[in-house]
Amino acid sequence: MRLSVKSMNHAHTHTPHHGASHGHHHEHAMDGQAEILDLDAEVLAEHISSMAAWLPLQTAPHHIVDLGCGTGAGTFALLDRFPDAHVTAVDASAEHLQRLRTKACTRGVEERVRTVQADLDDDAWPDLGSPDLVWASASMHHMAHPDRALRNVHDALVPGGLFAVVELAGHPRFLPENAPEDRPGLEERVHAAADRRQVEHMPHRGADWGPMLTAAGFTVEGERAIAVNLEGSRSEAIGRYATGVLQRIRSVIADRLSPEDLTALDQLLDASSPHSILRRDDLTVLTERTVWAARRI
Ligand SMILES: C[S@@+](CC[C@H](N)C(=O)[O-])C[C@H]1O[C@@H](n2cnc3c(N)ncnc32)[C@H](O)[C@@H]1O
Repeated sequence: MRLSVKSMNHAHTHTPHHGASHGHHHEHAMDGQAEILDLDAEVLAEHISSMAAWLPLQTAPHHIVDLGCGTGAGTFALLDRFPDAHVTAVDASAEHLQRLRTKACTRGVEERVRTVQADLDDDAWPDLGSPDLVWASASMHHMAHPDRALRNVHDALVPGGLFAVVELAGHPRFLPENAPEDRPGLEERVHAAADRRQVEHMPHRGADWGPMLTAAGFTVEGERAIAVNLEGSRSEAIGRYATGVLQRIRSVIADRLSPEDLTALDQLLDASSPHSILRRDDLTVLTERTVWAARRI
């Protein structure tokens, strides 16, 4: 399923060469997700801040909820942007929340963060207080019943409060089209297999969240697509990020690839192989995020 972008504001961000940057994506907590989320936050830091800066807030929020916070990409961006706010960070994964708390301590903001472990697919939601901003990045598509989740967020927000839904269409791309040399187009075929699987397992990823937010009672005040295109980077973080993402995809689509493609993919993922992705100096990060700003009237 592809994202249909009906952008009211379109920001194309091109960050040439440098250190930290990149996209990513995720499924349920599996091995390695925490590291990918951390790399994602590092690589996409600028893009996350620019989405937070774009939000049509009437006043600076005081109580923010980060739903499906993972290891805190959004939590820390929002704490930085809104120095008077505190964040309730909610996730099903105790491991992610622990990592988030450790980071909060390292940054000296532990007083401003409360973590709540909860499965948001459960009928009963935890008490989230009365937030004036709820942020959900790459988490709503995990919900078994997103319509119910959106209504719960609506009811938790104070009147006038804002819900920011950040979603993504698919996995980021890292390799040139003609790579690897012996199996050109491999990444495209890997993504095609992942997309087919996703239709079966995660039907809401890539959805158009605008109408769903409206149906849940929100007034959608804006939608913005951010294209991420980090080219020609020699950043070591991108190599690790690409390896992590492709490894995770491999773990779920291995049986959908031809034996030749699987062998080529394994060579890319093998740090000791001369074909290892970590040895390439032509990696990019190509991805897109869309943020919807929805108000509870
Ligand atoms: C793709 S990650 C995104 C993490 C973070 N928001 C970010 O932008 O980096 C999705 C997160 O949603 C969490 N999640 C998935 N299903 C959930 C559920 N039913 N209840 C609570 N959290 C859930 C996962 O544990 C994971 O941390």
